Amino acid sequence: MREIKKILVNKDKTIKETMKVIDEGEIRTAVVVDSDGKLCGMVTDGDIRRGILRGIGINEKISEVMNKNPTYIKVGAPREQILNVIKKNPDIFNLPLVDENNVVKDFVILSQGADVSYFSNAAKIRNHLRSVLVIGGAGYIGSVLVRKLLDKGYKVNILDNFTYGKDSLKSIESNPNLRIIEGDTRHISYVSEALQDVDAVVHLAEIVGDPACALDTKRTQEINYLATRAIALMCKHFQINRMVYASSCSVYGASKKNELLNEESELNPVSLYAKMKIASENALNEMTDENFRPTILRLSTVFGFSYRPRFDLVVNTLTAKAIKDGKITIFGGDQWRPNVHVSDVAETIIKVLESPIENVGGKVFNVGTERNNHTINKIGEFVKEIIPSANVVIEDKDVDKRDYKVDFSRLRKTLDVDMKMGVDDGVREIKEAFEKNPDLDHTHASYSNIKWLENNNLKK
Ligand SMILES: NC(=O)c1ccc[n+]([C@@H]2O[C@H](COP(=O)([O-])OP(=O)(O)OC[C@H]3O[C@@H](n4cnc5c(N)ncnc54)[C@H](O)[C@@H]3O)[C@@H](O)[C@H]2O)c1
Repeated sequence: MREIKKILVNKDKTIKETMKVIDEGEIRTAVVVDSDGKLCGMVTDGDIRRGILRGIGINEKISEVMNKNPTYIKVGAPREQILNVIKKNPDIFNLPLVDENNVVKDFVILSQGADVSYFSNAAKIRNHLRSVLVIGGAGYIGSVLVRKLLDKGYKVNILDNFTYGKDSLKSIESNPNLRIIEGDTRHISYVSEALQDVDAVVHLAEIVGDPACALDTKRTQEINYLATRAIALMCKHFQINRMVYASSCSVYGASKKNELLNEESELNPVSLYAKMKIASENALNEMTDENFRPTILRLSTVFGFSYRPRFDLVVNTLTAKAIKDGKITIFGGDQWRPNVHVSDVAETIIKVLESPIENVGGKVFNVGTERNNHTINKIGEFVKEIIPSANVVIEDKDVDKRDYKVDFSRLRKTLDVDMKMGVDDGVREIKEAFEKNPDLDHTHASYSNIKWLENNNLKK
């Protein structure tokens, strides 16, 4: 039995206090009552955000933005009467249920199929998420995530400056639930436009990888820290309190100890990329309050095929080289790395978005599984096993110093998710992609962030 109190707020509460009730409730609505519990109004997250756009501050009273004359229904009203009210007002999906003294007793919810249920005893409601902004939605992870969100029926906005082109969105660009905004995160007017009418934000738009970040250190700081900070500030301003930020296990850097690193472990960044991830994580943590509660996901190195393929990621590169060149070179080889499939990353992000904000907001999670912690040598062995014709050469120069084994128990315990794909599955998947498309040229610049940014003379 759910307590109706969960969605009631007193008329003297502020907009900010009410938004917390809405964020933690399941119906994107709060019922406003006086001290006797009598109905005074109703307010949705949309009403609040429209109020903010009109210039109303979040510390003002909720009465500034609420609907003061909500439609309601009396306790004991027959189902037909409820359906009639809703039929006459197609914009109404739920109604407060009041007794003869106007005291709110329950809340009627009209679920799909025009079935009537009550807040107090509905089996499952959770209707907090309707639309998501994916910043960087044309990228390697974003193009997979956006499709999964659309398949689940969500409305999606994408903000992307299409650094690597638009091809990854070709098959979905006419989807009526998708809105594409072309713009750079360094311009707040694009961000603000993309934030309209969304319930949550997933931020994936940065310069990705150590070498790509080292190319233009000023631009890297602008995009990977200053723009990220501005995006978080804008979410907080508009009370879009669910934000997922893609950080990286690179923040652990060169770990000296041979133990599993968890979210509390010491950070040892070895690149500007990792330093900017830490700076952005800190900025988000500083901004976190009782309402704005971003979730930081420290992703393992991602592998697998995507609508924007990348062949500058270790598993994908080694597999492509084994197939196309018949030879792979491993530098060093003893360094440990956590790995995760791109589809598992997208599923995890969706699980975070769909979870109660109290469970995931203001938290950091490593994303991956201990089963995919491998040395680079081991990744080479997987490739050799699946593509036996490949010649494996080990060299001691140009060794990437990142070396870390990661613990993922917090993610597993909190979200009850586990990763489905192993590194060997990823190698097979890339192999199949080459079998299906023998002309696929893994050396093409668009599949490598560093090559593309170098070739395009840092225009973006
Ligand atoms: N791929 C990985 O192995 C990995 C691992 C850990 C963390 N991450 C993080 O996940 C996120 C996504 O990574 P990805 O592999 O999908 O990267 P990607 O390079 O494929 O995608 C990034 C997208 O962001 C867009 N973008 C870049 N700068 C922008 C700007 N200033 N304004 C608007 N759009 C911009 C690009 O056009 C691109 O579509 C990044 O934050 C990355 O640091 C990735």
